[in-house]
Amino acid sequence: MSDLAIFPLSDEHKMIRDTARDFAQNEIAPVAAEFDESGEFPHETVKKMGAMGFMGIEVPEEYGGAGMDTLAYVLALEEICKVDAAHGVIMSVNNSLYAYGILKFGTEEQKKKFLPPVASGKFVGAYSLTEPMSGSDAGTMRSRAVRDGDSYELNGRKSWVTSGPVADYIVVFMMTEPEKKQKGITAFMVEAKTPGFSRGKKEPKLGIRASATSELLFENCRIPAENRIGAEGDGFKIAMTVLDAGRIGIGAQALGIAEAAYEAARQYAGEREAFGQKIGQFQGTGFKIADMKTRIEASRLLVYNAALAKERAKTTGERFSLEAAMAKLFASETSMFCAHHAVQIHGGMGYSKELPVERYFRDAKITEIYEGTSEIQRMVISRAELGLK
Ligand code: CAA
Repeated sequence: MSDLAIFPLSDEHKMIRDTARDFAQNEIAPVAAEFDESGEFPHETVKKMGAMGFMGIEVPEEYGGAGMDTLAYVLALEEICKVDAAHGVIMSVNNSLYAYGILKFGTEEQKKKFLPPVASGKFVGAYSLTEPMSGSDAGTMRSRAVRDGDSYELNGRKSWVTSGPVADYIVVFMMTEPEKKQKGITAFMVEAKTPGFSRGKKEPKLGIRASATSELLFENCRIPAENRIGAEGDGFKIAMTVLDAGRIGIGAQALGIAEAAYEAARQYAGEREAFGQKIGQFQGTGFKIADMKTRIEASRLLVYNAALAKERAKTTGERFSLEAAMAKLFASETSMFCAHHAVQIHGGMGYSKELPVERYFRDAKITEIYEGTSEIQRMVISRAELGLK
């Protein structure tokens, strides 16, 4: 990456970026294609990522994390995703969708109990909002949680849960008062060993195949009331606040994929010859390279800016929804743009499994879909700008 003049990195930031880059090259690059092909979950490398501190970068050391800031998280995630976006999303969910929510909304007891196992990478965390009939319109979920003395009984079917097939701890959102719609949703922590919890269909996916995704089933699943996160009815706001953080992670993931695709295309354009010259000398190719590079640097600014906005919010309490949505929107569309052009510049070789370029193409697409589609990001941005919400 280029060092941006307006983002001079501290020595600590450079250190985590370089450490993540070395780790990704040495530990993930050799196995990425194999796990993509098999669709198996990469348990061993995920544990190693935990030992490196990557699974809870912003979690304070007292709860088992690395105690660093949001920019450190983004820099490390970008490097991991440059090599493999599937490992990247497992890391992203652990850090933002799982740990950030507990840190921000959990009680002291919940932090002590539920952060260390996941921040250490020994156990996997997940976040479960989506249902078969409620994706973008998250406030219309049908799952129900009913209070019964000192416990809640959960019933429902959740879908598209990243790390669902392997997660040990899941933050799940359910309706406690359906008539109140968004204001009737509550957040809970469910341990996978709880009776009444099971995993449903594993999704066969186009990309990020090594990151397992599945349905989760709750059938009279009884959890202690102390596992409620926040107050009853706070769930929708918790889910949205956590997604703001998650979207910065997906922006970093998209940036990493875009950079990998760009690097491959740049190198190929400078080597491959046709009609007596390097293909990069054809303006049609050269302009693609120019557009890819420019969009990548713009994405980087948006993603790092969103990371700084989230960091600032730790003291001001302000929302960073707008910065996060703009970063995710632009970086994910840049990711798809770069992967598309990288395949085209490689011609037949871009379509071949012999090179990772086709994997970048398949992996890039999800960044425009999960943690809020591009259409949802445009809704968030336009509502904020027009003052409609
Ligand atoms: N932070 C805090 N509060 C927020 C908020 C945010 N980012 N966004 C909304 N709210 C609050 C609003 O202020 C409002 O509160 P009041 O009523 O007190 O004013 C309340 O929540 C309801 O807000 P809206 O009326 O705006 O809600 P809406 O129903 O119109 O939905 C939406 C807004 C932005 C479209 C939202 O539904 C959304 O983001 N949808 C996409 C969901 C999504 O990203 N799903 C992906 C799931 S995770 C995943 O992909 C899988 C995985 O494992 C990785």
